[in-house]
Amino acid sequence: SSDAAFIQKVPKVELHVHIEGTLTPELRWKLAQRHGIQPRFGTGSLKIESLEMLRMAYDNVISSAQLPSSGPTDHLVTFFQAYYSGFDFLRTKEDFFDLAMDYFRRAAAMNVRYCEPFFDPQGHTGRGIALSDIMEGFRDAQEEAMKLGVQSSWIMCFLRDQSPEAAMDQYKAAKMYKDMIVGIGLDSNEHNRPPSLFDEVFTLSRQDGFRLTAHCDVGVKDTHQHIHQVVDTVAKTGLDRIDHGLNAADDEALVSRIRNRGLALTICPWAYLRRETYTSIAERLRTLVAAGIKVCIASDSPVYMDHAWITYNLLLTKKMGGFTDAEMCQLVKNSVEMSWAEPNVKESIM
Ligand code: ADE
Ligand code: ZN
Repeated sequence: SSDAAFIQKVPKVELHVHIEGTLTPELRWKLAQRHGIQPRFGTGSLKIESLEMLRMAYDNVISSAQLPSSGPTDHLVTFFQAYYSGFDFLRTKEDFFDLAMDYFRRAAAMNVRYCEPFFDPQGHTGRGIALSDIMEGFRDAQEEAMKLGVQSSWIMCFLRDQSPEAAMDQYKAAKMYKDMIVGIGLDSNEHNRPPSLFDEVFTLSRQDGFRLTAHCDVGVKDTHQHIHQVVDTVAKTGLDRIDHGLNAADDEALVSRIRNRGLALTICPWAYLRRETYTSIAERLRTLVAAGIKVCIASDSPVYMDHAWITYNLLLTKKMGGFTDAEMCQLVKNSVEMSWAEPNVKESIM
């Protein structure tokens, strides 16, 4: 349709994509062959015998909210099981190069000019992978991507279901790659893991000059408390961005605080549609935009979310919010302004 053509054409910025959440079935298959290992998926209970079967497994990932309350669940694969089961295929510098390059090529095809992908180093170093292999693979891909017109900088995330001490150790080990890493984030399972647990490492990261963000996912228990910490208290003044944070719209005081602090939100609507109603998402999105909060649209972990990349999320947003072309352009412009790119890079994007 003309909406799709319009969205394809606009120069875009992607600020919320987990690089490990871009591992396609094709690349997982190729890496399994490269290392002579089974192309496992999720719990591994299904023996994957062909690329076709692997593609089907990807298309059957469920949200944990959909898990039945009783009976066996081994045949079902939740988002986190699917996502983390991809890590074992990433072993060498070449693997990390291929992962990043695969995404950058797709970004170029979608007319994404700049991105700040997340990566989860603890999910790799914890398996004995050298941080240098991760970072050097990423660095080579970034340089190659420049030739395609895609610029990038990384956001290093801590796994919040691991300890704050583990986050601090990872932080210290990664500081030598500061030239590649623009920001620090917080992801993985949010249940009972408030951002305040990581206050010390966020405070130190701020002192060292990193930009800061944290996931406050939709529908998480205590989400308002988590958003509050990200806005006001963690690292003394709060962080610089919120990943998701859609539930802020439920609370007028929180909306004001976010607007007054100039905090920006990365919103990934397709991810929420798997768990929440269309109407509730649309209303909250419109509330935030109408309040003058800087919101941008992003994709999260597209391959485990029905392959909904940024273009699809933008198209969905346009329909959902009833936004005009001009309003859509403003949302894309927000992503440029919210980004942590240097001014000259920002100018080169639009
Ligand atoms: N890591 C990768 N994708 C994630 C998500 N959607 N929420 C939290 N952590 C993640
Ligand atoms: Zn995310």
